[in-house]
Amino acid sequence: MKNRIVMSAMTRNFSPDHVATEKTVKYYEARAAGGAALILTEGVIVHSTADGYVDVPHIQTPEQAHSWRPVVDAVHRAGAKIFCQLWHCGRISHSDFTGGVPPVSSTHQAAAGMNRQNGKPFGTPRALGAEEMPDIYGMFANSARLALDAGFDGVQVHMGHGYLVDQFFDARVNDRKDRYGGTVENRCRFALELLECVLAAVPKEKVMARISPSRDMGGIYDWPDLEEMIEHLIPTFDGMGLRMLDISCAAADYFATSGRVVRMARPLWPACLIGGASLTQGQAEGEVENGLLDLVTWGRSFIANPDFGARLADGRPVKEFDRAMLAELI
Ligand SMILES: Cc1cc2nc3c(=O)[nH]c(=O)nc-3n(C[C@H](O)[C@H](O)[C@H](O)COP(=O)(O)O)c2cc1C
Repeated sequence: MKNRIVMSAMTRNFSPDHVATEKTVKYYEARAAGGAALILTEGVIVHSTADGYVDVPHIQTPEQAHSWRPVVDAVHRAGAKIFCQLWHCGRISHSDFTGGVPPVSSTHQAAAGMNRQNGKPFGTPRALGAEEMPDIYGMFANSARLALDAGFDGVQVHMGHGYLVDQFFDARVNDRKDRYGGTVENRCRFALELLECVLAAVPKEKVMARISPSRDMGGIYDWPDLEEMIEHLIPTFDGMGLRMLDISCAAADYFATSGRVVRMARPLWPACLIGGASLTQGQAEGEVENGLLDLVTWGRSFIANPDFGARLADGRPVKEFDRAMLAELI
């Protein structure tokens, strides 16, 4: 990698037919040419029943995967690497997005609040039976294989932000009475079995996981039993051969959220650790120099400044992100 600057996964709704488009190519090419060493794509849905958003890409079929080939080639020509983020929304969805079937989750309780994508309450999910879990793991393994066939340098398994895998981790959501709920070990089991399948499907060094044990959700929100979860999960990830871990806080203050988790995880994690969220250059350098992070992620700065990486390296001023840019800019 040419530097330690990573562009975070960000959904952009450029894909009405669930494939990468000309817009997708231009968007990522500009960020790669603009100095990011590694790009994590927007969430890409592993199966049509895993969707929860409008106009987001899928990676269930070879055709969908191959639509990314021009994106990958353009990013590589610009000297950067690119990983495909694999995404299952679980209950953060509605049957409007899953082909008419109820979304699945760890629980049968609907998420609170409204789905901004269709202006309706989140759909009532169906709690997955233990016997159907291998099908979900298979969706991720299939998508991981397809992504590598399409030329991606690796995949990032999205285990954060309240989506399906997080719905198993989080004791406030997971109300199961079987071996996938209750204790710390049980709540980590779905993620670990899923990861095992992905690690068996593609070379281990091409797999990254993203977790978000502490993030802003209308106030700072930590997983219940955060420390015990980290003490179980991180060494288990390591023992399985996972080599890249992204600790995210969605869009919260890093030092109040994932920066704390990074400090808990680092002594337990000998491999590549990735994190960030709108850090200043000095803060990012501090985290790297103190051995906490190996690579630093930025999201919104890359939307506002396609050449954010180069600006950071040269110490040039950067434009502030504002939400209107999501509609205006590619
Ligand atoms: C428009 C937008 C879309 C996002 N979509 C995703 C996503 O698809 N997957 C994901 O893991 N995180 C997503 N995020 C979270 C970002 O990856 C990142 O963690 C967050 O924006 C904090 O970093 P920042 O402060 O540098 O922007 C999204 C953030 C934004 C602003």
